[in-house]
Formats: sequence, C-alpha cells, structure tokens
Amino acid sequence: MTVKTIAIAADHGGVELKSAIISALKDRGIEVFDFGTNGSESVDYPDYAQAVAKSIVDGQSEAGILVCGSGIGMSIAANRFPEVRAALAHDRLSAELCRQHNNANVLCLGARIVGDAKALDCVDAFISTEFEGGRHALRVAKMS
Ligand code: RB5
Repeated sequence: MTVKTIAIAADHGGVELKSAIISALKDRGIEVFDFGTNGSESVDYPDYAQAVAKSIVDGQSEAGILVCGSGIGMSIAANRFPEVRAALAHDRLSAELCRQHNNANVLCLGARIVGDAKALDCVDAFISTEFEGGRHALRVAKMS
C-alpha cells in the first residue's frame, strides 16, 4: 500500500507502542495524524477507534493504525464504520494477508500480546503490501 498519510490512536494499553510506531512511520516520510491518547490514564478505546475511522471517512488519512491492550476492542469498534476494514494482526504473515486478501485499511495491534519488534514488523508489512485484487476484490465488494 502506497500511503502518504496515516491516522493513529491508542488507549492507555498502547501508548508506548504508539510512540514507537509513529517514529517508524515518520522515518519513512509518512505524515501521521495522532489522535492520542498520550498518558497512562484509563480511557475508552471506542472513542479512539472512532477518531481514526472518521479521519479515513473524511479523507484526511488514507489508512489507520489502532493499538489497545489486545487489539480486539479497537478492531470491533473501527469495523462499525462501513468504510473501514480493520484487521487485527499478531505477526507479519497476518499483516501481509490482511492487505493482500482483505484490502484492510486499518491495522489493529495488541500491545499486551505482541512485543514492539513484532508490532513494528506488522506495521512494515501493512504499509508495504499491496491488495491483490481479482477474486479478493469481489469478496471485499460484498462487504460494502
Ligand atoms: C483496557 O484495559 C483493555 O480492555 C483494552 O486495551 C483492550 O484490550 C480492549 O479490547
């Protein structure tokens, strides 16, 4: 996926991983819209998933990344938006497949599940893997 803009957010469970991801994205010349949170105070993940989803719906960002403790809450919340195809990935292969087969436009990560190195590998796969189209395009279209 060739993207110039990515929206990112985390709840309190993913703040530190979010910072590492932002650095990696900026190193690659990607403009990052950071919707928080930025501290350890407990917050509600749906608020942050909605901010990233709206950034995509509004055309501000081409893709999004969401981090919470498990990645599960963020993926459920983000997928309530018809324009969003959010995928929870735990390793490079799942991050590649969510692009190749599902044309995922939001990557969800569980900071309490994957370490920083594996999470950054997922991010690298997510932003560098193209959608394969073909039979997968027909399936993705059925979800719209
Ligand atoms: C917060 O404690 C935790 O529930 C949240 O980060 C996430 O794992 C929810 O799915």
